[in-house]
Amino acid sequence: MALIYSWGPWALALLSAVVARAIFRRYWTSIGDVPGPLLASFSSLWQVMQILKGHTELETIRLHRQHGYFVRIAPNEVSVSHPDAVRQLLHAQIAKGPWYAILSLPDYRYVNQMSELDPQQHIRKQRNIASGYALSNIIQHEPHFDAILRLLTARLNGFCKSADPVELDRWFTFFAFDAVGEVIFSKSFGFLEQGKDVRDAIANQRLLAPYAAIMGYYCWFHNLTLGNPLLSRLGIQPSSHIFDTCIAAIDARKKNPAKRNDMMQKWLDTRTKYPDRMEEVEIFATAVGTLGAGGDTVSATIQALFYLLIRHPGYMIRLQAELDVAQARGELSLIVQYSEAQRLPFLQACIKETYRFHTAVGLGLPRVVPTGGITINGRFFAEGTVLSVNPWVIHRNPNLFGKDCDNFNPDRWLQKETDQMNAFLIHVCIPFFSLIPSKGFLVTIFLSQWGAGYNACPGRNFAQFEISKLAATLFRDYDIEQINPKQEWTWNNHFICVPYGWPCRIRHRSK
Ligand code: HEM
Repeated sequence: MALIYSWGPWALALLSAVVARAIFRRYWTSIGDVPGPLLASFSSLWQVMQILKGHTELETIRLHRQHGYFVRIAPNEVSVSHPDAVRQLLHAQIAKGPWYAILSLPDYRYVNQMSELDPQQHIRKQRNIASGYALSNIIQHEPHFDAILRLLTARLNGFCKSADPVELDRWFTFFAFDAVGEVIFSKSFGFLEQGKDVRDAIANQRLLAPYAAIMGYYCWFHNLTLGNPLLSRLGIQPSSHIFDTCIAAIDARKKNPAKRNDMMQKWLDTRTKYPDRMEEVEIFATAVGTLGAGGDTVSATIQALFYLLIRHPGYMIRLQAELDVAQARGELSLIVQYSEAQRLPFLQACIKETYRFHTAVGLGLPRVVPTGGITINGRFFAEGTVLSVNPWVIHRNPNLFGKDCDNFNPDRWLQKETDQMNAFLIHVCIPFFSLIPSKGFLVTIFLSQWGAGYNACPGRNFAQFEISKLAATLFRDYDIEQINPKQEWTWNNHFICVPYGWPCRIRHRSK
């Protein structure tokens, strides 16, 4: 009793301080009038809760539909759905939001391209590593990539024979990580070969994802605790696994007499050529960053493509008919080549629609308003405010993608690029750059699945290459159905929306 009595005033003082701070954060700001969830207006706990629930993307879409172009999602952050935000925030050379700093792996000394907040440093880093990601470089690896695809088909043939259920989420993830290993280090990680999650690397990456997504809002705390470089030596950091996987791959590469002119080689060459422009640590940081960025994103997209086509059999039949015609004309190799897959319009429309409908990246891409502020659609935002654009929100905007934007409809890409191009002089700048008519004026929309501007995904050529080849080969050669056609899949959005839970049965297609 005496204890309660003596602590009482302190508890009251603490409570008053917390309430005062909450009120201050909610109202003492230039974004106090922006609507949004109450909790978000005074605490980043709202974002943490959404990450724990696993569906920030759906909740952000819902909030924008309720409140309009601007939704306050944190004391100092506004999510923006106006199409101009893509140009004004993502294309502009402005600093990334502090959340990205968590993506320096294994700790803050290893700043990679993704976690670099400063635009000038970012552009320098980007120049240093761009050659590795160039399509011309990726295509050189095609025969080695084909070998990985052959391994995957060998595994799937085993399932055809045994008629056992196949967890495609698992096998597509093995494929995606092995493929990244092949282009970065001239060697896959052996997931497909061994048929298992080698050293539990993928399981650990999945555990790391929610931790990183949450700690992005408390990076200072992470740096003091589990992200402290002192822990690197003990190997107990949350990111130790991806770090160790990379170290092991770099060591193996040094001893590999068959190493090629892979991404790593391109980066080493740049360092040799410009030693004062690129530090050694940057090479390692880039390798870890690329490994982190290039596996689950591709796996999530391939899974979505297959799942969505299984759930829409009409489109599946059309796609397989397109493939059968191309096959009958002798236009497809045993493992479909990239150049062949690019010539299949319905396949490409299905891939684009998958990018739109189940975008791999599902959190907002935050940027910091620079000196002088920014005005978007007539609303001024002061310097220092964080504004984020969630690709899902853009992709589910009926003004841009039509009233059926919540439906999976590959035809929209065929129509937009024919009918509307003629009617509105739509100009396609690069494959994913379209001019889409909206309310009587033309809006430039980068299909923001890749991000945009100076932060745009450098791996997009590689991803498109992988997905096109795999999809053309597997849809041509196999019939796939869910074990339980009524069972919907699910996914968790911890920056990347990685699905799970859709076991399938697979059969060879009758020729
Ligand atoms: C379907 C697959 C993929 C999707 C949807 C995707 C999406 C994205 C997005 C949206 C960003 C921009 C993030 C931002 O603005 O903050 C990004 C950045 C990045 N991606 Fe990808 N990505 C994919 C595949 C890949 C692959 C295969 C690689 C590597 C081989 C890769 C490497 C990177 C890197 C290094 C960055 C950081 C770029 C920067 O900040 O300058 N991505 N990706």
